[in-house]
Formats: sequence, structure tokens, C-alpha cells
Amino acid sequence: MQPTVKANDLALHFATPMMQREYDGADDLNRALSKLLLGMEKNDRNKVSGTTNVGGYHSDTKLFERPEPEIAAFRTLVQEAVVDFTSAYIQETCSEPPSNLKMRVWGWGIVMRKGDSNFQHVHPDARVSGVYYVSVPGWEKTHSLDDPQGSIMFCDPRPRAHMNRHENQLTEIIVDPKPGLMLLFPSYYEHAVIPFRGGGARISIAFNGYF
Ligand SMILES: [Fe+2]
Repeated sequence: MQPTVKANDLALHFATPMMQREYDGADDLNRALSKLLLGMEKNDRNKVSGTTNVGGYHSDTKLFERPEPEIAAFRTLVQEAVVDFTSAYIQETCSEPPSNLKMRVWGWGIVMRKGDSNFQHVHPDARVSGVYYVSVPGWEKTHSLDDPQGSIMFCDPRPRAHMNRHENQLTEIIVDPKPGLMLLFPSYYEHAVIPFRGGGARISIAFNGYF
């Protein structure tokens, strides 16, 4: 007698968590952050050299230590998001919660203009990372399938999954930025920014968390 299938589950082992959080009512905050970061681009030292960014402005990594109220407001959003993401992340990946969950976060601002991009990279000195989009010119018209300019690209972080790839196997996932969108992911999750070709300034704030 031929056996018949009794159960057939396809589980996803070691999936990579990625949180997409959108904010309502972020226009005022985004305006204030834009103004601040464009002023910093003009007046502060550009730290882009030595980073994975190609062109554009990269602030130092002490952005959250600045005294402006918009930075304090934004830092609170990041702290909340990092705690939420980390809670879900460790619940999925740890056999029991780590004993020390004291979180330290730091961030930096990035201003990109036409032709600027960001090489594929990870954030080796952190556990969780993220980015928030303050201003994305033309975001309503950018769709990753036909024109991914300025979008963020995540790469399959499983090295062995790149071996003997089958036809049409996905190795990258592209997410289109828009103002008020925050992404959080493990710091090992490799990502890049596809060259921005729009007009004006694409402004984002990247951050790290370590616990
Ligand atoms: Fe990054």
C-alpha cells in the first residue's frame, strides 16, 4: 500500500526580521529635521569620507546628543521603536531573554543629492540598526519594480543561499523610502542605497542600537 502524506509543513528557518513603521502627523517634525540637517550640511564637517556613502553629506554619529527639541523628539521615537523591535526580535531568536537589555542608541544624518548612493554594507558595531526618512523628493513616483532610484536594497544574509542559485531566486529585496517611514533590522542585514537621481535633497537619519 502506498503511504499518503499525513502532514506537510514548510517552515521558514532563521528568517530575518525587518520592521517597517510608519508615522502619522510627522510633517512638522520632518520639516524641523530637514531644516536642521540642511544647516548641518552647510556648516558642519562632512564625515562622508571613510563611510560607505558615495557622495552626499554624512554627519558625525552624535546626532542624538544635540540640544534641539526636534532631535529630542526624534530620539524618543527611535528609542521606542528600537525597544519594540528588539523585544520582538529576541522573542523570535533567543531561547530565553538576554540578561542585560540596557540599550544604547546613536544616530547620524545623511543628505543625498542627485547621483549619490551607498555601498552594500552592514553595521558591525551594533546589534540592531535602522533608518528613518525625513524627506524623499519624488517618492510618490518611485516604485522599486520599474525605477528603484534612491531605494534601499537588502541582500539575502544567508551566505550559503547564494550557492548554486536556482533560476529567478531572489537575493535582494528593495524597499521604497517615503517621509515618515522607519525601518529596523538586525545590524548584520546587508543593505545599500541605489543611486538617487531625483532633484533636491533626500534626507534620512540612520541609527544603531547596542544592548
Ligand atoms: Fe546602513
